[in-house]
This record gives sequence, C-alpha cells and structure tokens, in this order.
Amino acid sequence: MTENLPVNPLREGLASRAMPEPCSVVIFGATGDLTHRKLVPALYNLAADGDLPPGLSVVGFARRDKTDEVFRTELEEAARKFSRQTINEDLWKVFASSISYHRSEFGELEGYRRLSEKLNQLDKDRGTRGNRLYYLSAGPDQFENILTNLKNSGLAEAPPGSWARAIVEKPFGTDLSTAQHLNGVVQNSFDESSTFRIDHFLGKETAQNIMVLRFANSLFEHLWNERYIDHVQITASEQLGIENRAGYYEGAGALRDMVQNHLLQLLCLVAMEPPTDLSADSIRDEKVKVLRSLRRMRREEVTRSVVRGQYASGSINGKPVVGYREEKNVKPESMTETYVALRVLIDNWRWADVPFYVRVGKRLPKGGTEIGIHFKNAPGVLFNRDKSGVRDGSQNVLVIRIQPDEGVSLRMQSKVPGASVRIQPVKMDFNYGTSFGKASPEAYERLLLDAMAGDATLFARRDEVEEAWRFIDEIEEAWVGENQPGLTFYPSGSWGPTEADQLIEGDGRAWRRL
Ligand code: BG6
Repeated sequence: MTENLPVNPLREGLASRAMPEPCSVVIFGATGDLTHRKLVPALYNLAADGDLPPGLSVVGFARRDKTDEVFRTELEEAARKFSRQTINEDLWKVFASSISYHRSEFGELEGYRRLSEKLNQLDKDRGTRGNRLYYLSAGPDQFENILTNLKNSGLAEAPPGSWARAIVEKPFGTDLSTAQHLNGVVQNSFDESSTFRIDHFLGKETAQNIMVLRFANSLFEHLWNERYIDHVQITASEQLGIENRAGYYEGAGALRDMVQNHLLQLLCLVAMEPPTDLSADSIRDEKVKVLRSLRRMRREEVTRSVVRGQYASGSINGKPVVGYREEKNVKPESMTETYVALRVLIDNWRWADVPFYVRVGKRLPKGGTEIGIHFKNAPGVLFNRDKSGVRDGSQNVLVIRIQPDEGVSLRMQSKVPGASVRIQPVKMDFNYGTSFGKASPEAYERLLLDAMAGDATLFARRDEVEEAWRFIDEIEEAWVGENQPGLTFYPSGSWGPTEADQLIEGDGRAWRRL
C-alpha cells in the first residue's frame, strides 16, 4: 500500500499535523465483532483519506485457523457493510495487501515469538521501523494473558528509536478492584504514556467539540456554573437491544456498560475547569478532579437518586421485540439492568447543588445521545410571570447533540408575531452536516490515528478509570443483598420506567424529549 494510497497533505482537524510514523498494528481478537464493525472500516477510511502512514501493516491475531486470503476476504465483506465511505476496488486491493493473519492461542508464548519474527520481517519488507501498536480487542478474560505474553516475548519493549503501545478496549475491569488489578498488569508491560484505554465516546466529533464550545467562545463560560445553570441532562438512548452480547451484558448491565465510562466522560467534559493547556495530562487532571468531586451515594441515597429498569417485550419501529429475559443466553430471572437514570451531584464550587440527570437505556423509541444544559429562568418580572406550568418550558436550553444528528442548538423565548404579547420558545440550530458539508469521521478513526501519533488526550488515564469505578461500585453494592432498591420493567419502545420520570419530576423538572 506504500506508494498507491493517497496522502492527505493538510491533515486538517487531526491532533498531529505530522503523519504518524510507519508501524504495525496488531489486533488481538481479529476475528471478532469489533474488528469487523469498527477497526477495519476505520483503518480503510483513514487509508482512503490519505491519513495512514506509508507502510502501515495490519496483523490479525486470533485462535482460529485461516489463511491471509480468507481473512482479507472476510474483512472486505465487513468493510463493505460497515465502512463510512463506499469501498473503492483499487484502493481496497492496496489496503488489503497490508493485512495478514497470525494464528495463535492467546496464552501460548511460542505464538508471540513467531509474531515477533513476523513483525521483524514486516519492518524489513514494509519499513515499519520496529514501531508496534497492539490493539487488545479480544475478550477481557484474555487481557492478562496477552499483556503478560507480550512482555515475556520481549514484544512490549520497543527497540531504541521505536515505540510499542497498547490500546486496551473496554470493559476495563468490572469494579474498582478488578480495574486496579488490570492496571497493575498493564503497567507491568507498558508504562502509562504507552497505554491507551479506549472510550470511543471521546473520539466522537461532538464530544470533542464540548471543550471548544466552552473555551473558544466568550458567551457560555461565564454562565457555566451554579448561578446560572439550573440542571444538566445527559441522555444516551438506543433502539437496539443487547444483540448477541448476552455473555458480556449479563455480567455488566447499563451502569457498568455505559455510565462508568461513556457518560461519566461526557459529564466530565461538561463539568471540568478549563485546563492549563491542551496537553493530555492537563485535560485529564481536570477530568479526574470532577470524578473526585462526585457526591458518593450511600444505600439510601441510591434508592432516592437511582432508578434501574429492564426492557420487557414491546415494539420498536412497529415491529414486535422480545423482552430482555427472553433474549438468547439471558437467565429468565435475570436482574441485569438495561436502563438506568441517576441524579448526580458534584460537590465543588462551580456546581454546588446543580443536579446532573444522567440516563441511558436500550430498546427506547429513538436512538440518540445528547447533553442539555438547562439555564435558570429569567426573573419573572416583565415576562414569564406565570410559573404554574412545567418549570422547564421557559428555560433557555443549550443542547449538544452528540449523535446522530450532530450539532448544537439553543432554545430561547421569542414573541409570537401579532398584536398581543405572546411568548413561545424558538430554537437556534447549528448542524454539523449543513455547516461543514461533510460527514464526521468515525470515533475509531480518530482514536486509532491518535494512538499511532502517541497522543493520549482522548483516552482514559489510570486514575480516571479508577475514580469512575469508585463512584459506580457504591451504586452496584447498594443493588445487591437485602432490601435492594428494586428493578423496574418498561415495555420495549417506551421511554423507560415511570420511576425515572418521577425521579426528575419530583424535583420539578422533566426529561427532554429526544
Ligand atoms: C458500547 C456499549 O460501549 O457503546 C454498547 O458496550 C453500546 O452497549 C455502545 O451499544 C453505544 O455506542 P454508539 O457509538 O453506538 O453510541
């Protein structure tokens, strides 16, 4: 692929203006879903946009027996299905020639020794210069095996002048102690600056825009505190059920699957103080401070501030769907939550007593992720006198739409044309697609490229992951044992349990409709 792939001379919008150095990307768990749906389509799109370093090689590491040819054909099928851009035949051929397959057990040291020989050969053939990016996308039960064998085979150590980095997929542990253990294992093989804990929400274009919106504009930041903001809502809603992931999801649930990582990361970006500069550590220092300020919840508080639900049967887009307990490989008496809503408080100067309502759920009527910043009402002196209705209706709301319809809108009050003074909310809307005229890259494109460039800004640091687990663990603990706050059920295709509405309505507020 060296000569024939395009090269993007501008590298607009990328963390590193310079092309990352040539390297080999080794994907552990290369026959899995993530490789097919996300990683290979992302690499192909980067290749098509001219953003890949020349000579880049992709090595798929997995247990099944197969030839390079079969592996490439499978990946081509997947890329045709999941790629953001349509596959160009000629480009694919060049790209595919950079892909090879390596069969080995994850726990077999010999397999890593053979991998080492293969990578050395690629260095000679393709000029990858000893640089290696290991992507751990196998099941989490294999992470320790892989990391230990990378170390024992010498692969975790880069020869002088080159680098070796590891991207670790989620789930990063299942609670604080497993996350700490995994961090110990990772750090035994790779130092923190070579460790990239992925949270793909951070790679989403609009998530990255939160900091720009806040700190590149003079309009919002002065109002961005408890004096002017009434509350914040963060919603991630999905129409999908658990697909074929019961094995993982049964042991996880919505709180671990989405809140511990993605939603707390979004919350941090909204709540953090301005960092001293844009370096990875300055930004992550500020996020950790937010996580440390989250008000911890004891058991009674969990009952008051957290609602968990599970989808029952119902319909999505007019089609009947089964309930969670009827899904394949789910226990019929499963207590796993597929929906969770929380009222979170941040005990610091900026956010004292401003609730952050966070909700996430599967099998809801519409898919979408957004953040709503609800400002306090204007004094009801001249207008807005009648406060009897829903308090929410007259608030200014800044909505950051993370997906799918990426953009930012601002709700404000306006006079309805006519002789009488009637006021109605209207919306100012910025839409990425229409303003910039092109589709945003997929999160994995940006994240893979950043890892190749050694930029960890959009990856979670060790202390971030552990602080987030500290907060989540207390809720999980309150859910087990006697007198546990109950699991509620909601029909698929509804907006979740009514208890979640009561959670916010009890405070005189209402969920935004997506
Ligand atoms: C993953 C979760 O991390 O994020 C899934 O494990 C969820 O359960 C997915 O569906 C949502 O990501 P996206 O990018 O499709 O919104």
